[in-house]
Amino acid sequence: MAAARDLRAMEMAGDDDAVELAKRHLVQPWPYAGSVGNEARALIGEGDGIYITDVTGKRLIDGPAGMWCINVGHRREELARVMYDQAMMLSYNTPWYTMNAPSAELAKRIADHAPGDLSHTFFTTGGSSAVETALRFMQFYNNVRGRPEKKLILSRGGAYHGSTYLSASLNGRPRDRDWMDGADDLVVKLSSPDPFRRPKGIDIAAFTDFLVDQFRDTVARVGPEKIGAFVGEPVQASGGVVVPPDGYLKRIREICRDNDILYISDEVVTGFGRLGHVFASGDAFGIDPDMITFAKGVTSGYFPLGGVIISERLLQEMRRSNHPDALFGHGLTYTSHPIGCAVALKNLDILEDGVLAHTREVAPYFQARLKTLEELPLVGEVRGMGLMGCVECVADRESKDPLQLDKDVGKRIDAHCHELGLLVRPLINMCVMSPPLIITRAQIDDMVAILREGISRTMDDLRKEGVWQG
Ligand SMILES: Cc1ncc(COP(=O)(O)O)c(C=O)c1O
Repeated sequence: MAAARDLRAMEMAGDDDAVELAKRHLVQPWPYAGSVGNEARALIGEGDGIYITDVTGKRLIDGPAGMWCINVGHRREELARVMYDQAMMLSYNTPWYTMNAPSAELAKRIADHAPGDLSHTFFTTGGSSAVETALRFMQFYNNVRGRPEKKLILSRGGAYHGSTYLSASLNGRPRDRDWMDGADDLVVKLSSPDPFRRPKGIDIAAFTDFLVDQFRDTVARVGPEKIGAFVGEPVQASGGVVVPPDGYLKRIREICRDNDILYISDEVVTGFGRLGHVFASGDAFGIDPDMITFAKGVTSGYFPLGGVIISERLLQEMRRSNHPDALFGHGLTYTSHPIGCAVALKNLDILEDGVLAHTREVAPYFQARLKTLEELPLVGEVRGMGLMGCVECVADRESKDPLQLDKDVGKRIDAHCHELGLLVRPLINMCVMSPPLIITRAQIDDMVAILREGISRTMDDLRKEGVWQG
């Protein structure tokens, strides 16, 4: 341990080098053309519990838990140890014609938690590859069943499903696709189930009916014989923590069942504890999808792992089909990685041994404390579920204008919060909060106090600059 810390200290002595090297050699995710390959981002040196420390020595609450993933917190010795032990036992085996025990055991434990008849898991390297796998499986399934026309995918505004070509084609957040190509001929887009941005003058019940009618009408118009799957996050995460109206997901699930459209629930964010359950589809929303995709929290971000859980019914239909020789030509070098699966097993132990219960216990407090930020005039709405929250800023509450004059208000708030000791996930005019699930009430108080101050300072700046007069 001491040696590891010395090594970190040596690395930290080279901060300036790291920044220079990054600017010269690193392409970071989601860059703008004007700075691609020439960008320095906040350099993080250490993590411990709910905190990270940047290389200036400033300790920050990890508000987004990395990217919704450090569920059991940073620096968990038992996770580090299990990775070491597994690497010393078996660091890798080819999944093409061999297998390992941790992946089989993990698949069994996942099936125990999964809703309905979801029984088998295909492991991937992360969320995008999980969604991609689910979609390729749907295509293969319909080919094998003699329905090659049944391939279109229904997706919604505000969705985020990944950065591979097909998964990214489903994305519906503003700006993501402006400069990017996609398989648009394969995707049919529907409205976001965002109650805050529902059409003016209709209540939530009418909005829910509108969404369900739109779904049903779209299926009828396009033709159920052409639609293979619907893909949806139970709570749209990167779209701004959009919690759908009550009953909406169940009604969509029924329409899918009636029309033989596979329901793929993307639990890359909501899975493994974020809403207090291993899977939210069944336990929080009462639905039994045909497939669930997961990643991130499955290893609490300690190892890149994801997967798709598939219904027993689908597998049996394939096994009974007239095409036993049809090949699902899909697999990744790191499918069923033994180290990833071993760390996921230990992570699941930790979740089951108290972290899930703690999340359910502390979540109402988290939501209530965040909600107090609606007192600030820049804040249009605070919403969330479990340990996912979003503070959405607006120019004025009547028009709900997302701050036309300054689309990057989230970044301004993040900059102030960084000074004050909190890392925020800025999303255009929103700040998304999803701390490690081990956060205590006192730490929630600290987090909300800093966020309040960061928003207040941002309001002062906007007023001074004449951008906003609220
Ligand atoms: C709901 C959802 N699906 C898929 C993905 C893609 O996961 P990854 O970045 O691990 O490929 C994300 C990533 O944030 C996500 O939020």
